[in-house]
Amino acid sequence: MLDLEHDPLINAMAPEANPAPLIEARGLIKTYDRRTTVLNGIDLDIREGERVALIGANGSGKSTLLKSLIGLHPISGGTLTCFGHPVGPEAGRAQRLHMRRQTGFVFQKHCLVRRRTALSNVIHGLFGEPGSWRAFAHSLAPLEWRNRAMQALADVDLDHKAMERADALSGGQQQRVAIARALVRRPRLLIADEPAASLDPVSGHNVMALFSDLCRTQGITLLYTSHDMDHAMDHADRIVALRGGKVFFDRPVVKVTQADLKDTFDG
Ligand SMILES: Nc1ncnc2c1ncn2[C@@H]1O[C@H](COP(=O)(O)OP(=O)(O)OP(=O)(O)O)[C@@H](O)[C@H]1O
Ligand SMILES: [Mg+2]
Repeated sequence: MLDLEHDPLINAMAPEANPAPLIEARGLIKTYDRRTTVLNGIDLDIREGERVALIGANGSGKSTLLKSLIGLHPISGGTLTCFGHPVGPEAGRAQRLHMRRQTGFVFQKHCLVRRRTALSNVIHGLFGEPGSWRAFAHSLAPLEWRNRAMQALADVDLDHKAMERADALSGGQQQRVAIARALVRRPRLLIADEPAASLDPVSGHNVMALFSDLCRTQGITLLYTSHDMDHAMDHADRIVALRGGKVFFDRPVVKVTQADLKDTFDG
């Protein structure tokens, strides 16, 4: 009989077939002011290449979880591993920096520098890389950076607006610039907190579709929050719902029912 368990070929393949999660949270607890427990024992794995939507009622802790997962907020208990490194309170500054360099962020409010051009704003996304002070003025930025930023703008179909000031762009266009700014660093992981919330339904759908397509084609792992259940169902592979400080359900989109969604927000 074949001894599969000890087969060297199968064992050599095993790590590839089932790589370690990019993010691994076990029993994660987050309290504010030592009184308010917002997250109360979260178990969550995010695997490379997945697109995961995080849903839940207002105040259920979605933004807190995103910030905790990437070390922007220190966790209060449990264990957290990100890109293979533990991210507890014991994590050093270098470790946090290493993690943030591999992560892109997009928020509901895109936080562009209004008076700067779209190109300049995207080049700002390269801050943190060696020599990044040059990114203050795109005229001083190395040609390679300008090319990368122009490519990122082309990816979001806005290269023709590169020299327009950010405040001269529509809300949807500004959000696309914010996506380009997050992608220009070629992150492994993209975190987006309600990226389409301030947009009209059509722009919101377009931005979500763009996100999802870019992440799929560039192999970027995507974790985003949304209050729009269509955005969650249409652009993710998996949905994680929070309720009462815990994971209420965590399953592939194809297995999520309308009753699951309703129960997430009831009570
Ligand atoms: N910096 C903070 N200090 C104290 N409490 C906070 C802080 N940030 C969030 N909270 C509290 O944590 C809880 C969860 O907030 P959080 O912003 O994570 O929820 P959310 O699910 O993202 O909500 P929303 O859908 O409204 O964005 C809320 O009760 C909030 O008041
Ligand atoms: Mg939030």
